[in-house]
Amino acid sequence: MYNMWLQYNPVESKNKDMWQEVAILNDSCIATSIKNELTIAIEKMFQVKPAYSTSNDAKIVIGIIDELGELVDKQQKHKFADISDESFLISYQNDQLLVTGKSDKALLYGVYHLLREVQHGHDITKLNLLDQPKNSLRMLNQWDNLDGSVERGYSGNSIFYENGKIVKDKSRIKDYARFLASVGINAISINNVNVWKEETYFITKKYLPEIKEIADIFRAYGITLYLSINFASPIAIDGLDTADPLDVNVKQWWKDRVQEICHYIPDFGGFVVKADSEHRPGPFTYDRDHADGSNMLAEALAPYGGKVIWRCFVYNCVQDWRDRSTDRARAAYDHFKPLDGKFHENVILQIKNGPMDFQVREPVSPLIGAMKKTNQIIEFQVAQEYTGQQRDLCYLIPQWKEVLQFDTYIKGKGTTIEDIVAGRIHPYKYSGIAAVSNIGNDENWTGNTLAQANLYGYGRLTWNPELSSETIANEWIQQTFTSNENVVNVLGDMLLNSWEIYENYTAPLGVGWMVTPNTHYGPNIDGYEYSRWGTYHFADRDGIGVDRTKETGTGYTSQYEEPNQSTYNNLDSCPDELLLFFHHVPYKYTLKSGKTVIQHIYDTHFLGYEQVEQLVQQWETMKDNIDPLRYTNIRERLALQIRNAREWRDQINTYFYRKSGIPDEKGRTFY
Ligand code: GCU
Repeated sequence: MYNMWLQYNPVESKNKDMWQEVAILNDSCIATSIKNELTIAIEKMFQVKPAYSTSNDAKIVIGIIDELGELVDKQQKHKFADISDESFLISYQNDQLLVTGKSDKALLYGVYHLLREVQHGHDITKLNLLDQPKNSLRMLNQWDNLDGSVERGYSGNSIFYENGKIVKDKSRIKDYARFLASVGINAISINNVNVWKEETYFITKKYLPEIKEIADIFRAYGITLYLSINFASPIAIDGLDTADPLDVNVKQWWKDRVQEICHYIPDFGGFVVKADSEHRPGPFTYDRDHADGSNMLAEALAPYGGKVIWRCFVYNCVQDWRDRSTDRARAAYDHFKPLDGKFHENVILQIKNGPMDFQVREPVSPLIGAMKKTNQIIEFQVAQEYTGQQRDLCYLIPQWKEVLQFDTYIKGKGTTIEDIVAGRIHPYKYSGIAAVSNIGNDENWTGNTLAQANLYGYGRLTWNPELSSETIANEWIQQTFTSNENVVNVLGDMLLNSWEIYENYTAPLGVGWMVTPNTHYGPNIDGYEYSRWGTYHFADRDGIGVDRTKETGTGYTSQYEEPNQSTYNNLDSCPDELLLFFHHVPYKYTLKSGKTVIQHIYDTHFLGYEQVEQLVQQWETMKDNIDPLRYTNIRERLALQIRNAREWRDQINTYFYRKSGIPDEKGRTFY
């Protein structure tokens, strides 16, 4: 359970002996991590102890390209000319296996890749591979609080904090760093974006000596540490009378803070900021905009190479539900797009994948790529807040892939999100992907063991968005459980269908929400309908959905480039799965699938429940192939899922039957 995908199950290999002679040529904290990982892996996989040397003659040689001398020929060196420092080469030549690159980090990624190849049973004497990450920033955001709780955490408590203190025993943080490095994560923010009273002091001497220790741990795995900050810190910490970003004292205050942080953590990544969002303080209080706010912090960080990651999750969270003109989906674009070009070059905007909030189905945020002169990264949520909370199975890689493959048409056909966030479309200085983490101190890290696949997949996909959902699932299953074909097939099938299944029994056709307020687990169809959060479905006796068209709705569709704008704006061309996100339609409106909206709702909800029954059956067939602990954990989670699916099915179907009075064509049971 604990080792997630770093199980290093025993493997049969004719090259076993090679692993007894490993040379690690350089000496650094990352080199030490490489050695530690190899020792664990080699002992477990081959039951041999590796002997380490610094000899160029060893069977396996790991070293930075310049240290390898003659071992790397001109042609190989040439290949590295224009690629990032994180790229690695694994090459078998002249009876030796080389792992090389331009930096320690490259070696670390190369070694983890090599170990992955071995676990998949591949012949390492056939390896000749140059690999480079497609995204430069590959980040995780912890939403952990100092009291040990994790906001939207579904896997126990924090591994970083407990009872108002940073944990003394940091071994679990080290293991977390190992998991993250193994899939290429290179940045982490270690505290919640909602920075509460005590966490505000993380940027002071009170906490920095211990945060430095955490930074040291992550550094040894190539991961840069960031902190979430409270925009009103100058007031909260030092009693300044303002946090106005244009005030000279405020500016100086932040410069002094950054100087102190960098004294402890010289390679400090920078700040993650949630400002003017859900009651967090920000520049609006002083009549300043987000450029003013972020630039002030950027100035303080610039001398140290630090960055400001400024979140765009800004909307009116005290809306009057009676007000039909305000549309939460519009908010991020409306706030940020006009500011394009005003941000400093070390400011990065972090934008959630959809315009609302990590629903099971949303269109892609039109803000991504719309700012040509401002660094942007996308934000995903590995934590399954709205997708089953790690009780229900929901493998999210297919969802993220769909988002990444979305064609924005921002610079003509073929301008995908994937290209934009990788920095290939606009000349961004920084780009990449961030996500909310899903781990906690549960023995298996993620509550539901199967939720480990989302963390694994997030890292792999961020490194290489071209990997398919299937490949990632297969890799994860093989490393985590076994290469047994039956297990790979059955479990692969369960994972790959799970997002669709979850969507089938929850909110239909892109309308979103319908969840229990606050907890966001389980159905409550009108739970948010008359609330202040801007999250409505507008179901009445005749129809359902949100009119976001230009002519009669909120005009949100106009935030997209053509042809997306027209595709979404026109009822005829709007894809079924997003219909109710963009349009309010009668229950008898016929979908492209040929079904009416109401019959689609009934059918998908009955189907979704049956599919969960199938998941349970599929899992039961795995009993003899999976160890009892993990088998039971997953069986128990599936038992929760089936209860949840039943509740969703019956509440949704009954609700819409009662609203519309339209019977089910198949005469199934409503209540
Ligand atoms: C969601 C989530 C909050 C979180 C917020 C954010 O609304 O429910 O817990 O704080 O997103 O992303 O900042």
